[in-house]
This record gives sequence, C-alpha cells and structure tokens, in this order.
Amino acid sequence: KLEFIVPITINNTAHPLPDDPRTSLLDFLRRDCGLTGTKKGCDHGQCGACTVIVNGQRINSCLSLAVMHDGDSVTTIEGLGTPDAPSPMQKAFLEHDGFQCGYCTPGQICSATAMLQEIANNMPSDASESLDGPIKPTPEEIRERMSGNLCRCGAYANIIAAISEVAE
Ligand code: FES
Repeated sequence: KLEFIVPITINNTAHPLPDDPRTSLLDFLRRDCGLTGTKKGCDHGQCGACTVIVNGQRINSCLSLAVMHDGDSVTTIEGLGTPDAPSPMQKAFLEHDGFQCGYCTPGQICSATAMLQEIANNMPSDASESLDGPIKPTPEEIRERMSGNLCRCGAYANIIAAISEVAE
C-alpha cells in the first residue's frame, strides 16, 4: 500500500487521485472534481471536446487515466479565466462568435491556448530572431494545428479568426 500519493493539481488546487485506477482523466474532472466545462464527445480520442492542458501540453483527457497524472498540473477551461476576467482566447472566441452550440468550445479554447504556446516554444533560440516575438501562424497553419478539434456546427471560420487575433 502506498503511504503517500502525490496529488494532481487542477487549476492550482490539489486533488487526491481517484481510488479506481481505471478512471479516465475526463471522468475524474467531470464526475469527481465537478469541472463539467470539459466535455465528453466521442470518448475515444476523435473529437477534441475533452481537451485540457497538462503541464503546458494539450491532451485528450478521455484517452488518459487520472492516476497517470500524479504530480501533474492540469488546466481546464475553468482555470483559464472567469466570466469577469476571461482569458484573451476566451474573449476572442466571444468577440468573433467562435462557436454555435458551444459544446466543442472549451476544448477548442484549451487547445488553441496551448497551440499558440507550442508555436512560441518552437521559435528559434537565436536572440536576434526572438526579438521579433512569436511568429504569427497563417490561417492554414492554425487549421492544421487545430485539426484535432472538431466543430459539428462548422464554426471554423470564426474559430480561426478568433485564434488569429490572439496570435497577433
Ligand atoms: Fe475525448 Fe472526443 S471526448 S476526443
């Protein structure tokens, strides 16, 4: 029996891991932590509705077991901003109507937030180049990098517009 298990940190709050090691990170977030902003679409890694950010990387939480994340830091849509103080990406989605039914939106926003960080991290380390700031992705590149997040309403044009604005 383990005497000490490092908890998982979700939106800067420590949570004990679930007793059942078969619990997916998605079910853990929704059922055990009450963080229902993260959505279950397909539950097998095809739609991206369940996307959360783990240690800065976006993942499909339906494909991951909660117990694999002891000691990790998870950010869900609830951790990115509040209704009074939305994150820049949340604000841009609102301003550009980057949704229709809204079901895929938490996953889209988490994915887009981490995606822009991925681009920033791939910047050349050469100081003279990095002084210019992050390279702005083209709409085609955003589409490619966001291809794991499906929108059944087809709000893609507005989603790309929102992400492009934040990338500027
Ligand atoms: Fe996880 Fe669809 S619910 S990818």
